[in-house]
Amino acid sequence: MIALELLLANKILNNTTYRREMDALRTSEQGRIFCRHDIEHCLSVARIAMLLCMEHGIPADADTVYAAALLHDIGRMAEYTNGIPHQIAGKQLAAAILTECGCPPRQQDAIQNLIAAHRQPEGTISLEQMFYLADKRSRSCFACPAQGACNWENEKRTMKIEV
Ligand SMILES: [Fe+2]
Ligand SMILES: [Fe+2]
Repeated sequence: MIALELLLANKILNNTTYRREMDALRTSEQGRIFCRHDIEHCLSVARIAMLLCMEHGIPADADTVYAAALLHDIGRMAEYTNGIPHQIAGKQLAAAILTECGCPPRQQDAIQNLIAAHRQPEGTISLEQMFYLADKRSRSCFACPAQGACNWENEKRTMKIEV
């Protein structure tokens, strides 16, 4: 088996701005009783999105999916500070990181689409919809002690293990 090289995703992982934001987010969410937005969540989103795409026969470029997953919650710190939804608050930050990582404009557009899609279900079988679902399926709501206080609608919650 030939391993896929995730060139862009690994550049993002080592990007100074990315690391700074993720460190700040980790510190700020330390006492959070609800889901956190850490690197484990990002990687789960990428892996589940790739599995869902395979299952549904949707072509997906792994590096683009992993890059989008790493960046999809990057606006969380800004949301905590100024109340702007994080898929919007993170747009400029994601663009700056992607540019620093040498990501070409067309791939940046595809990544920004996925970041936007993670908050908005499409309803059609598409890469964007799989990314949206992966973000929800990465959460173990069925085992969450904060279920009663969570503001997620029931249809978003992952209440059983699914394949
Ligand atoms: Fe999010
Ligand atoms: Fe997320």
